[in-house]
Amino acid sequence: MSQTVVVLGTQWGDEGKGKIVDLLTEQADAVIRFQGGHNAGHTLIINDQKTVLHLIPSGILRAGVQCIIGNGVVIEPTSLIKEIKQLEDTGVSIRDRLLISQAAPIIMPYHIKLDQLREAGKGDGAIGTTGRGIGPAYEDKVARRGLRMGDLCDKDSLRDKLQEVLHYHNFVLENYHRDQPLDFDAVYADICAQADILQPMIEDVTEHVHELKSADKKLLLEGAQGSLLDIDHGTYPFVTSSNTTAGSAATGSGLGCTDIDYVLGITKAYTTRVGSGPFPTELFDDDGEKLAKEGVEFGATTGRPRRCGWLDLVALKRAIQVNGVTGLCITKLDVLDSFKHIKLCTSYEQSSGFPQSAAQWQAIKPVYKTMSGWQSTTRGITDYDDLPNEARELVNFIEEFTRTPVAIISTGPERNENVIKAHPMAN
Ligand code: GDP
Ligand code: IMO
Ligand code: MG
Repeated sequence: MSQTVVVLGTQWGDEGKGKIVDLLTEQADAVIRFQGGHNAGHTLIINDQKTVLHLIPSGILRAGVQCIIGNGVVIEPTSLIKEIKQLEDTGVSIRDRLLISQAAPIIMPYHIKLDQLREAGKGDGAIGTTGRGIGPAYEDKVARRGLRMGDLCDKDSLRDKLQEVLHYHNFVLENYHRDQPLDFDAVYADICAQADILQPMIEDVTEHVHELKSADKKLLLEGAQGSLLDIDHGTYPFVTSSNTTAGSAATGSGLGCTDIDYVLGITKAYTTRVGSGPFPTELFDDDGEKLAKEGVEFGATTGRPRRCGWLDLVALKRAIQVNGVTGLCITKLDVLDSFKHIKLCTSYEQSSGFPQSAAQWQAIKPVYKTMSGWQSTTRGITDYDDLPNEARELVNFIEEFTRTPVAIISTGPERNENVIKAHPMAN
């Protein structure tokens, strides 16, 4: 019996993690976010009603489930408070079941400003970040000068720390970027007001998750972004600034590596990417447009159109390795319903090993296996035997190629539109 399950993306994000976390939360006692920040946009659709979550774990729409933001997450207080209030406005209780790690780094206004100034300065070479200050906040964490949520509990020491770090960032803003400095009094007043709201939810999350483990509670760990956006294993430098892979579920929550029983890797039945960077199977033809249209591929956080292409099994295999994926979940199978032929990338031409640099990514060419489409609707199918033969052949091929079992197939955006072959929490 798996007590502790990690759910993460195996591509460049937006694989449908939110939907699957919400689904599995039916069996869970607590859901923990362990990395990323409000660059994430996780969509839940329940009875036609859409909720997009950015920082709050995707278990929040299941009454009574505890939701935890771990130390690996960078938190922008204004956004978190806005998200709490928006959910409360729809009648969801939050403050009695949301816990925030005292060790989570805070995204401050200067981080957002720096992110946006740098991107603007890069012109065509921009990474295409979400402009949310994610990178600069993680830099401050690693540089050991960042503010953390625990600092909100002592305003005098917060004042001193802010003074020092703002002095540094204002120097960079004025002298490197030739921009306006931020006013200390205004920044301090804002963070103090936010502290008053958030303080009651801040605690030692590591202690708490181990109490839950000791009480035999079932835990879900929710990843953000995807494995190819990982700071170490992704398509560097076109990546995010955190480790998005499974090891982060331990370091970003306070659990030990051996506490994790199962890693569920989510992959779309095709591929999308938001922002710049390598994407070998990207399509610029009618098929690409059709994927975008049928899959409604627009970013949940920034609204940007997502780049679309065929499923890349070479990249998926790599993601399975670096995460130690136990089982796969294939989402958006229904998006392929009307395709006559479906392609899967099975190798890269002109590559010696997995590409490591942007130049190596550019030099490779995808080699495809073409499979027959099914040209009938799979939307909402819940029984594996009801899937068309061609769809089952696609699933079998993915399993054989990756040597990894497919545990779940998602056949629509609604909570209950899934084929569950093997429930990750039940074996
Ligand atoms: P996340 O960031 O990984 O949580 O994914 P997003 O929420 O950003 O993007 C996934 C999108 O696909 C959302 O709009 C979901 O509602 C939608 N979605 C998820 N699973 C399915 C599916 O099986 N079929 C279809 N058609 N849409 C899905
Ligand atoms: P979810 O959790 C898709 C991308 C950005 C950009 C790069 C760096 O919804 O899957 P950042 O703001 O993190 O410094 O941007 O990473 N990116 C995502 N793409 N889904 C996400 O989150 C993403 N979060 C960041 O588009 O290319
Ligand atoms: Mg998303």
